[in-house]
Amino acid sequence: MKSLCTDGGLAGLSIRDLPLPEPGPGEVRVRVRASAMNPADQKVLGGEFIGNFLHGKQVPIVGGYDVAGTVEALGASVTDLAVGDEVFGFLAYGRGTKRGAFAESAVVTASTLARRPVSLSPTDAAALATAGVTALQSLRDLGRLQAGQRVLVVGASGGVGSLAVGVAARLGAEVTGICGGAAAELVRSLGAARIIDRGTTVPDPARYHVIFDAAAAHSWLAMRSRLEPGGTYVTTLPGPGVFLGMAVAPLFGTRCAFISVAPKRADLELLATWVGEGMRVPIDSRFPVRDGRAAIERMARGGMKGRVVIDVEGGF
Ligand SMILES: NC(=O)c1ccc[n+]([C@@H]2O[C@H](COP(=O)([O-])OP(=O)(O)OC[C@H]3O[C@@H](n4cnc5c(N)ncnc54)[C@H](OP(=O)(O)O)[C@@H]3O)[C@@H](O)[C@H]2O)c1
Repeated sequence: MKSLCTDGGLAGLSIRDLPLPEPGPGEVRVRVRASAMNPADQKVLGGEFIGNFLHGKQVPIVGGYDVAGTVEALGASVTDLAVGDEVFGFLAYGRGTKRGAFAESAVVTASTLARRPVSLSPTDAAALATAGVTALQSLRDLGRLQAGQRVLVVGASGGVGSLAVGVAARLGAEVTGICGGAAAELVRSLGAARIIDRGTTVPDPARYHVIFDAAAAHSWLAMRSRLEPGGTYVTTLPGPGVFLGMAVAPLFGTRCAFISVAPKRADLELLATWVGEGMRVPIDSRFPVRDGRAAIERMARGGMKGRVVIDVEGGF
């Protein structure tokens, strides 16, 4: 099967023919229609050190966590999916993931995939999977965001942040988004009541029940004075400041947490329902998988307005 892969580093990124993977017990093989480019793909394919913790080091490395496609083979003991089902989801962000979805076929744990409703296109499904579940688990599970509360989303026009705006609005919260000026209209249209320009120096007097730092641009320490009593700061990347925050935040009557997203069928289903009800999946751009390097360069340029989708079906 054709795959976009590298033996390490972006310079070696190329299309190669690899053996078709066989699904093991509890797994299915999916004929991939669409995937998406996440920052984790940049790290894994770029050979960055952190990439070693996100992906098994089986070479050649095939990127692509997000997947939307058609089940084409079942491993032993899979009873809840059938050949021909249209599904979407994402591969686990961990060393157990050996081969990704920038390939004609990918093996995925069956129980983590959801059926893709007709109302959700393969493109939107791929863009929604990691980013939407990250937003949902960050806001609902870690942030414990409740209807009527105020939430601040940092990086509100990126892949995760743009969906966090929509998710927070669905949870009934009042959303403020921080983004670059060029993305203000997009973020407002996704459900933000208020926009803060990323470059502003005007102080924001508001206090928030949840601050979701999707861009991992700040720290609990820097944001603590903007939290309501009992409020939570959630970030997307671990680091020394996060662990310090987790230890110290309770002493100030607040909480600090970082997300480690896990693929969950029920969460994918909930997001698909919300999209069916009108929640938007912002797509910054689309690239055929053969142009994977151009997709990575697009992300590196910044100014993101949603997710970069990779068209796999027909894209080789
Ligand atoms: N831990 C987990 O489970 C998990 C899951 C998913 C993602 N992540 C991580 O979450 C981060 C965001 O992912 P993503 O997919 O949303 O990335 P993305 O699509 O590249 O978006 C990042 C956004 O952050 C904005 N940004 C960058 N620096 C900023 C700053 N100083 N202030 C405000 N906004 C800033 C960017 O704006 P510009 O484009 O204008 O620069 C962009 O809109 C990545 O580091 C990713 O690895 C972690």
